[in-house]
Amino acid sequence: MNQVQIDELNKKFPDKDPTEVLTWFLNEYGDKVALSSSMGAEDQVLTDMVLKIKPDARIFTLDTGRLFPETYDLIDRTNKKYNTKIEVQFPDHNQVEEMVNSKGINLFYDSVENRKLCCGIRKIEPLKRVFKTLDAWICGLRSGQSITRQSIQVVEWDENNGLVKVNPLAKWSESDVWDYIKEHKVPYNPLHDKGFPSIGCLPCTRAIQSWEDVRAGRWWWENPESKECGLHKR
Ligand code: ADX
Ligand code: SF4
Repeated sequence: MNQVQIDELNKKFPDKDPTEVLTWFLNEYGDKVALSSSMGAEDQVLTDMVLKIKPDARIFTLDTGRLFPETYDLIDRTNKKYNTKIEVQFPDHNQVEEMVNSKGINLFYDSVENRKLCCGIRKIEPLKRVFKTLDAWICGLRSGQSITRQSIQVVEWDENNGLVKVNPLAKWSESDVWDYIKEHKVPYNPLHDKGFPSIGCLPCTRAIQSWEDVRAGRWWWENPESKECGLHKR
């Protein structure tokens, strides 16, 4: 897909109706498109939408080995509710062993470099393996989530990974997400009710205060500008 086609798709799909863009991609790309789910609120909305459009649509999640117990529980609950099987992708155990044994089990607190190494081994490498089977991936990014995400479009060319990236909720607000979850009784992570709007790995996520921005609890010891794990490099 070239930039002209991408621009056309962005004009064609109204910002506020994610189901139209999802239907188009699921029909056109079949098994070559998949939802990348962290099991967060946005991704649960997309799971509900995607499976209502195509009950056997592909959904995958990257299990870093350091997720919250509540997240594992949600994978199970979601599979049961929708009668689906979320594909769980694991990191290469040799790389994890080498990293942990040379730099420590909680290396990410020591430097941004270590943190990026850990995200690279536990998330990016498994993600690249999934990309070998895909021409497009669907993500739950919203432009309101952080300064690093302000300019995202519904359809983008993912230059780093060489495939199309679809952000159906790009223009949705946080309350759009929660209205959908309540209206459609979508299962969600109970940590969201305990001050965790954005949930990643357990050691790298904390609850936030009401005045903080939604991603303040992710890698809270780093500057906002460095707080991307590499999944969404721009
Ligand atoms: S992150 O880059 O900081 O971890 P965030 O948690 O905001 O990302 O999630 C943004 C989007 O990235 C999610 O909506 C999802 O599409 C994708 N994503 C993040 N973490 C994972 C994961 N563990 N497995 C699969 N997709 C993920
Ligand atoms: Fe490692 Fe933390 Fe990144 Fe998870 S979020 S992969 S534990 S550095």
